[in-house]
Amino acid sequence: MREFNIEKVRADFPILNEQVHGKPLVYFDNGATSQKPQAVIDAIDDYYQHINSNVHRGAHALSDKATEKFENARVKLQQFVNAKHREEIIWTRGTTESINLVAQTWGRQNIQSGDQVIVSTLEHHSNIVPWQILCEQVGAELLPIKVKSNGELDYDDFESLLSDKVKLVAIGHISNALGVINPVERIIAAAHTVGAKVLVDGAQAAPHLKIDVQALDCDFYAFSGHKMFAPTGIGVLYGKKEILEEMPPWHGGGEMIEKVSFSGTTFNRLPYKFEAGTPNIEGSIAMGAAVDYLNQFNRQQLSDYEMELIEYATQKADSIPEIKIIGSDCNKTSVLSFIMQGCHSQDVGMLLDQQGIAVRTGHHCAMPLMDALGLSGTIRASFSFYNTKQEIDQLFAGLEKAKTFLM
Ligand code: ALA
Repeated sequence: MREFNIEKVRADFPILNEQVHGKPLVYFDNGATSQKPQAVIDAIDDYYQHINSNVHRGAHALSDKATEKFENARVKLQQFVNAKHREEIIWTRGTTESINLVAQTWGRQNIQSGDQVIVSTLEHHSNIVPWQILCEQVGAELLPIKVKSNGELDYDDFESLLSDKVKLVAIGHISNALGVINPVERIIAAAHTVGAKVLVDGAQAAPHLKIDVQALDCDFYAFSGHKMFAPTGIGVLYGKKEILEEMPPWHGGGEMIEKVSFSGTTFNRLPYKFEAGTPNIEGSIAMGAAVDYLNQFNRQQLSDYEMELIEYATQKADSIPEIKIIGSDCNKTSVLSFIMQGCHSQDVGMLLDQQGIAVRTGHHCAMPLMDALGLSGTIRASFSFYNTKQEIDQLFAGLEKAKTFLM
């Protein structure tokens, strides 16, 4: 196991040496996308220099090699989330596609007029809109769980919504806008008592928490490569095998078929039934490399360090009267989402950018959450294990500077 050493870890991420507007980059937009270690960049490079070939198709050595690497990566992801079977790991373009796949296959098959789907007010749009589309298509009802004023999910409200009309609960593991961790274990257990299935949007959890889909007992778990140190355009849908087996295919094309004829087509076995077309081969291999990168470390050590960062940043924020943290006094990860009284978030973001500090501002693709909290948006600094307290000092120096311009 590799000892966590911040200087050595930073050296793994070449982009951290970049200058932005003539200043050293301080990258605090990890909630949007994480940076990539050299090992992941090398995996992509190696694939194109030595392996590039299509998978599952060729009668030649390179294709065999590509297939082996591609399928090994699937096993790495299986182990990463502790899935029981490798065929429970479906490659997708990312969390959004994973959720849409479930909505348009399992959802179309199992949700009917008069049924209900529960989501929470804290969701990213990608865990709202696919369900809205489905509910409109089949005449079902979408029910949002309320959020408390501190940004925590209102669990009592969730319980009050549960009934045997509910067929699915789609819930984020961690809020992207606030970093608040939802009590997904309790939600899954309660949903199962009324016979509902549960999909967990794990986009923000995969880079921070150890995921165990068997312990969670969720029916589906969706996550993206690019937020967990792998490239964009690759992600995973985990589903329980017996549920995936029953689901109809989604996209039609090569790979997902068993036999095609004009009198009818039969479909391939799992996981290929859901993987029409040439997949993102290098993306899958690189996502496997990202898992290898993380597995060098004791993941708890990485989380503990991230918690140190968020505690440090919270203390600093608390000492500035104009700053109000959104998502406080609750179980959360390393996200500081806040507003600065008297300043527009976008203006603050722009002034920070001029100092080389990258944050995200606005509604964070969570408009219903912002509406519920009475906000137009927040400033979000989302930390990863390659960030430092010194960078947080730079953020707060930047905020002081922004104050002098804007107030
Ligand atoms: N979902 C990403 C974010 O939270 C884009 O910024």
